[in-house]
Amino acid sequence: MKKKLMVLGMSAAIVMGGVFLPSSDGMANAVQAASEGIHSQSEGKIAKKFNENRAYQTIYHLSETIGPRVTGTQAEKKSAAFIASQMKKSNLKVSTQTFSIPDRLEGTLTVRGNELPARPASGSAPTSDKGLTAPLYDAGLGLPGDFTEEAKGKIAVILRGDLSFYEKAKNAENAGAAGVIIYNNVDSLVPLTPNLSGNTTGIPVVGVKKEDGENLLTEQEATLKLKSFPNQTSQNVIGVRKAKGVKHPDIVYVTSHYDSVPEAPGANDNASGTSVVLELARITKNIPADKEIRFITFGAEEIGLVGSRYYVSKLSNREIERSTANFNLDMVGTSWENASQLYINTPDGSENLIWQLSKNAATSIGKNVLSLRKGGSSDHVPFYEAGIDSANFIWMEPGTESLEPWYHTPFDTIEHISKDRLKTAGQIAGTAVYDLVEKEERRAQ
Ligand code: BES
Ligand code: ZN
Repeated sequence: MKKKLMVLGMSAAIVMGGVFLPSSDGMANAVQAASEGIHSQSEGKIAKKFNENRAYQTIYHLSETIGPRVTGTQAEKKSAAFIASQMKKSNLKVSTQTFSIPDRLEGTLTVRGNELPARPASGSAPTSDKGLTAPLYDAGLGLPGDFTEEAKGKIAVILRGDLSFYEKAKNAENAGAAGVIIYNNVDSLVPLTPNLSGNTTGIPVVGVKKEDGENLLTEQEATLKLKSFPNQTSQNVIGVRKAKGVKHPDIVYVTSHYDSVPEAPGANDNASGTSVVLELARITKNIPADKEIRFITFGAEEIGLVGSRYYVSKLSNREIERSTANFNLDMVGTSWENASQLYINTPDGSENLIWQLSKNAATSIGKNVLSLRKGGSSDHVPFYEAGIDSANFIWMEPGTESLEPWYHTPFDTIEHISKDRLKTAGQIAGTAVYDLVEKEERRAQ
């Protein structure tokens, strides 16, 4: 990392003074000076080219024409093929990296002939084909003391809170319960999806909405049917723009995830970030760069950053050493009025290279909407864990740092996309990337 920051520091010295003076400043100052010194070079160039209508069309195709893009499904594969074809038009060297994912589950919960919306927990056991029909048992919060002999062979209905989902499910399994339904403790538009934090259970586990769980407490029995889809795969789509004439160049990653949660068209989460990645690939087609840019859209983010973890795990040590920065775009197009601040989430909250460059980019194009925040929950995390400066761009409500109310619901649609917000995020990220990769001799001119 040090070496790369020094390179930037040197170019700043050239820009500002015409002579090279080795700097004894701190590295953060070097980055700041460097990006301040060069922003005027790129000012406008990239920002003017960003076409929000093209980005919008990409979101339309992914979220409306294709629809929900659940990890491992045909819709996810179709999306990957679409993204690859778009990347090819931008003269990138495109490849698709396939990897296996944990068995996917689909399920139903039926009570007195009525189907209730329920979500299988990832890591849950499936049921037999005819399903599990059993009496219901009110197991409170699912503490060990909440289970008596009575719980044996029944479906435990457990309220969310106090314990982890896995602890609740495990306590039920240990008590001899045949299945678990966890209900939310807050109202929600969609059923709760219990996350077993990478663990598995020997009994089926699903989540439901608060009101459905409360109603279940007055019912006698229910039928749970969970079907497992084994041997599924997902894929990352990788488009590389080589640095012409540079041997072993530094590498800059511009990334997003293109999968969605079940039933969500995922217009904002995250066709929006994907549309910006594709647009940045298009508008950097002919730029003179001395760094390699890898435009990558990941699959399987929504089941726990599986695509990006796989990608980073396959990088060689040499590639990691050459890796300078990861700009990740996840949820950059919401029209939710309250989400007026563009947050730069760094996994440790630090003012890293991405923050410095983005801050200067925002200033240079006159859009002072940025705020630094500590935040993970997206594909920048594996890059950070490999020692690469990384950050996620995301619009949120200032102060509360809330996301739009329709996040992860069927209402995450194209109607809730703002071209203006897309454009601002794209222009800032694009300008920052440009400042980082532009050929040094050009910067000095
Ligand atoms: N885009 C979302 C959420 C998000 C929220 C990203 C705040 C960045 C900041 C992302 O796709 C998501 O839903 N992430 C999961 C965690 C992930 C590890 C499965 C989440 O936040 O629940
Ligand atoms: Zn997302």
